[in-house]
Amino acid sequence: MTVTKGLEGIVATTSSISSIVDGVLTYRGFDIDDLAENASFEETAYLLWFGSLPTSAELETLNRDLSAFAPIPEQVIEQMKLYPKDTNTMAALRTAISSLALYDDDADDMSREANEIKAVKLQAQLPTVVAALARIRKGLEPVAPKEGASIAENFLYMLWGKQPDIVSVKALDAALVLHADHELNASTFAGRVTVATLSDIYSGVTSAIGALKGPLHGGANEAVMKMLEEIGSLDAVEPFVRGKLERREKIMGFGHRVYKNGDPRAKHLMKMSLELGTMKGDTTLYEMSVKIEDLITGQKGLKPNVDFYSASVYTQLGIERELFTPIFAISRVSGWTAHILEQLGDNRIIRPRAEYTGLVEQKYVPIEQR
Ligand SMILES: CC(C)(COP(=O)(O)OP(=O)(O)OC[C@H]1O[C@@H](n2cnc3c(N)ncnc32)[C@H](O)[C@@H]1OP(=O)(O)O)[C@@H](O)C(=O)NCCC(=O)NCCS
Repeated sequence: MTVTKGLEGIVATTSSISSIVDGVLTYRGFDIDDLAENASFEETAYLLWFGSLPTSAELETLNRDLSAFAPIPEQVIEQMKLYPKDTNTMAALRTAISSLALYDDDADDMSREANEIKAVKLQAQLPTVVAALARIRKGLEPVAPKEGASIAENFLYMLWGKQPDIVSVKALDAALVLHADHELNASTFAGRVTVATLSDIYSGVTSAIGALKGPLHGGANEAVMKMLEEIGSLDAVEPFVRGKLERREKIMGFGHRVYKNGDPRAKHLMKMSLELGTMKGDTTLYEMSVKIEDLITGQKGLKPNVDFYSASVYTQLGIERELFTPIFAISRVSGWTAHILEQLGDNRIIRPRAEYTGLVEQKYVPIEQR
């Protein structure tokens, strides 16, 4: 047996959803740079699920369905009010999304048609759940979704309880496009492993949320913001980074399993971070981030990943850091569900082997003799 720790470099499936070749990320053959500049998140989600960009009529139908599905069951809202207020937001999200299945009569209908509907439904409901969790934690009543608004607009509307400005909506929409899918990343793999047992789509998405929560994956954006807060000022960047490197500690938001020459999504978020800072008249977070990048890249050769500049982007949008990873989930649920549909379309249970390194030839000893 050859053991490949972390499955590094192992090709575990074929997929026609997204690809990373020579550092270029594409969704269904479209370069992420093209989509980030031109596509809305709804068009991107449609592309991931159905394989082509939607026509106007198809997009209209999708937007109508997303609006219709956005409200969540009252029972789920009541349960969320019982969660401890200071609990980890990803733990709360994992629980809430799992509980949505209990109120969907079609949760266990494994037909392609029913699963496509549930993919759209999960996409519509995840922002409602995240916004409701955020408000409940602050002792506020959740705000019902607004009909006819995009996912980005609706999320900010439900979060803030007022109409968001166009710049914030556009920035969030672009961030959602950039996070929507990423080949066989850890959370997508977790989702595919779960449904490959023919378990339902809610179980798949719940597994994926659990995997995204970790700081080596989606949790890194929150960790980056914690680091920026801890550093506190531009002058403190250099001693902080030097100390981290001397102690051989990881700097969140840098490095990647697949991209060794830079993450193509990072430059878009870097640009957004500067634009938002300039607009708000304070580019400190952007400048601190650039200084960290210069030091880490200069001394370790590591480049920022998607999470590094998302931290300053979301903060400048006025979003609290506990919501960064849940926002990643709002976007990535499009990719997770596309992969779940693909897995179920040509399924084989995912069951690798382990090389046994434990004790051998043990004999049972009665408990009183141990
Ligand atoms: C993403 C990540 C998990 C990839 O892990 P991986 O492919 O297993 O790569 P490794 O952890 O083996 O890293 C290879 C080398 O670079 C170093 N390295 C990788 N990421 C680093 C980071 N963020 N800070 C400092 N050093 C880092 C490792 O210590 C290792 O050095 P060594 O060979 O001297 O031991 C890893 O880069 C990481 O932990 N990054 C920080 C978390 C993060 O931002 N995650 C979001 C990913 S989108």
